[in-house]
Amino acid sequence: MGRDVFFITTPIYYPNDVPHIGHAYDAVAVDVIARFHRLLGEEVFHLTGTDEHGLKLQRAAEKAGMTPKAWVDEMEPKWRAVWERLDIAYDDYIRTTEPRHHAAVQKLLTAVHDNGRDDIYLGSYEGLYCVACEAYYVEGDLRAGNCPIHDRPVEHMREENYFFRLSAYRDWLLDRYESDPDALQPESRRNEILSLLRSGLQDFSISRSSFTWGVPIPWDPKHVTYVWFDALTNYATAAGYADDPARFARVWPADVHMIGKDIVRFHAVYWPAMLRAAGVEPPRQVWAHGFLTVGGQKMSKTNATGIHPFDLLDHFGVDSYRYYFLREIAFGQEPRIAALWEDSGPGDIATMQREYAQEMGYPAWVGDAVVPVARALGEPSFGTKSLPSTTGTVKVAELGGNDIIKSQSGNKLLVGGGMMLPRRLRIMLHAHLKMRAISQSHRPSRMAMWIPARLAATVGDQYRSRWVSLRWWSMRACMVA
Ligand code: ME8
Ligand code: MG
Repeated sequence: MGRDVFFITTPIYYPNDVPHIGHAYDAVAVDVIARFHRLLGEEVFHLTGTDEHGLKLQRAAEKAGMTPKAWVDEMEPKWRAVWERLDIAYDDYIRTTEPRHHAAVQKLLTAVHDNGRDDIYLGSYEGLYCVACEAYYVEGDLRAGNCPIHDRPVEHMREENYFFRLSAYRDWLLDRYESDPDALQPESRRNEILSLLRSGLQDFSISRSSFTWGVPIPWDPKHVTYVWFDALTNYATAAGYADDPARFARVWPADVHMIGKDIVRFHAVYWPAMLRAAGVEPPRQVWAHGFLTVGGQKMSKTNATGIHPFDLLDHFGVDSYRYYFLREIAFGQEPRIAALWEDSGPGDIATMQREYAQEMGYPAWVGDAVVPVARALGEPSFGTKSLPSTTGTVKVAELGGNDIIKSQSGNKLLVGGGMMLPRRLRIMLHAHLKMRAISQSHRPSRMAMWIPARLAATVGDQYRSRWVSLRWWSMRACMVA
């Protein structure tokens, strides 16, 4: 299953508000990884979308005096417009209000319900609920009585729900994360989930009868599907789970679910267990990045610290934007991705290539030569619509391994005859392609100064007095414990 296609996903975003640069951080990172794999000639499926059901959306719509559907129809284009300006070349955009998604959620629910192990049962639930998270908390999770993520009051809720027997999958999950570190990264998040698993798992509720904005439970349509069983299933929907089994077999399992650390539990615990209960392979990797923080708090609209990506794009353009967020902000410690985005301060493409060459055990001059060599061989070009494969370019490099390769200005760059092996050339080109996947630009420094200023203007007095000390690196995507 899923051997043919590199399948990478962003979370699906709640369109209850407009995007800020924290959301765009996910989106750009995934786009870069997707572009890189495309540049290597792989078939890629890059998925993004919007999470359009649930109480939070229903309430936002009510507040605006609209139906939920009219509300999400109005909001969703505001998200797509941002991805367009950011050059996000997704292959599919899923909205959970689409019929194909209803079909997939119902198919998955039915598969779990009918698996012969009584994995879905009716029970009643009472607890402290955060509407913003769409999740129940226990007393001990709260911070000063408030939701630990949103710092807002939780509500006492009681209702009859269907439950998913998550507890039955604890040993399997524990074994999975103990034996396969790649399945969840970075290490800090993996350790967090391992200790959660070791302390035991509670079943979770998968339906609501107190509101109506969702996918009906197939065998009991008085209930709608609880938001996580609905939202997570988007990844399978878009791969063809309900409507295209042949495609599903090529695309599934997902290679990487890129997410923020606030939704790790859902992706690393709920989702693989749900799939297993339905007889479907789990995703290969969940990768959870940190937050863009302001004053130590997650940047968010709720805290009035959200900066809209257009504010930056209008000033700096898309290349600088992409470069800045991936190059100058530490992404994480996990080698598979950190190799692309080392946290070593401001740099340009040549520096990055030198570092890459050093990592690969080649002398620095190899790194210096990458750009001119790649140019001499014909630069791979890509836009948002068509992304030509670069296997052609790599082939040329192999053929050219024994020749003298000249730069455009006519200088001899590399002399063949054993000095430059085709493999080395190929590795160098790969380094070059990685840079191309990020962007061509290497002029982000003004942005580093400008973001805090913009932030001060956005959030007003609360931060204005502090903005001078809000150095740009205070916003880095750190792995806050
Ligand atoms: O959680 N810095 O949607 P969402 C970095 N619909 N990332 C941030 C961020 C910040 N300041 N603020 C938000 C949801 N994000 C669900 C997901 S997936 C099946 C369903 C990230 O719109 C956040 O961590 O609240 C998450 O990964 C993503 O934006 C969407 O958040
Ligand atoms: Mg959120």
